Amino acid sequence: MISFNSLTKRYGKQAAVNALTAEIRSGAITGFLGPNGAGKSTALRCLLGLASPTAGTALIHGAPYSQLAEPLKEVGAVLDSRGFHTGLTALQNLKVITAAAGLPDSRALEVLEIVELSDSAHKRTKGFSLGMKQRLALAAALLGDPQIMVLDEPANGLDPIGIAWLRSFLRKLADEGRTILVSSHQLAEMEHTVDDIIIINHGEMVVAGPIKEIVGQGTLEEAFLRLTLEAKAVAK
Ligand SMILES: Nc1ncnc2c1ncn2[C@@H]1O[C@H](COP(=O)(O)OP(=O)(O)OP(=O)(O)O)[C@@H](O)[C@H]1O
Ligand SMILES: [Mg+2]
Repeated sequence: MISFNSLTKRYGKQAAVNALTAEIRSGAITGFLGPNGAGKSTALRCLLGLASPTAGTALIHGAPYSQLAEPLKEVGAVLDSRGFHTGLTALQNLKVITAAAGLPDSRALEVLEIVELSDSAHKRTKGFSLGMKQRLALAAALLGDPQIMVLDEPANGLDPIGIAWLRSFLRKLADEGRTILVSSHQLAEMEHTVDDIIIINHGEMVVAGPIKEIVGQGTLEEAFLRLTLEAKAVAK
């Protein structure tokens, strides 16, 4: 459904993503993990056609994003929750998108209901908390009822209640059969949310697979530290 095939993205001499190859299982939540600057956002931007790969490909259903017939109906993306017009209400912001994408207006209210933001539908987003903005961004991503969701650090800035909400929300989406790729630099936060993980560091793959197999008895953080140290030792 989603595949990275020797994806490389260089900025000048520096490789933000270096020969990344990975496949994302459908109907599951995959955590795309790694420290700050690991290359997560860059890889996701390549996947969504917002950056062009230096080499390799990032494909959705075997095609680059730019070649999808109806992108909003195939992939919902949240890269940044700051893109809303602050002078418009939550509902108005969503209706701008439905109008542009040729989706029914009624869908805007539906997705607000799904993210439990109906009570704020007629409030301007100017006064929205970060958590509300994140929910609105998720609502926008769901407008086309896509089978695939790509989320870049959706838990950033959320309080424990917001994180717990996000966790059950993502699980619900996956239980509906959707494929979810969600990035985070906070390993502990993702540990109880995801089925599979892809860990990258310095633009390169450290490990990928089911979280249970990778983590074993310890924590995800311990597994990450062990695996990155092993990767360094092999490189030497
Ligand atoms: N447009 C750009 N121009 C130059 N360098 C960039 C650009 N975008 C990213 N980089 C560099 O590429 C590397 C990877 O950045 P990226 O934002 O993909 O990491 P990340 O894993 O998303 O980190 P974070 O957890 O902080 O969001 C960093 O060293 C960054 O400075
Ligand atoms: Mg990032």
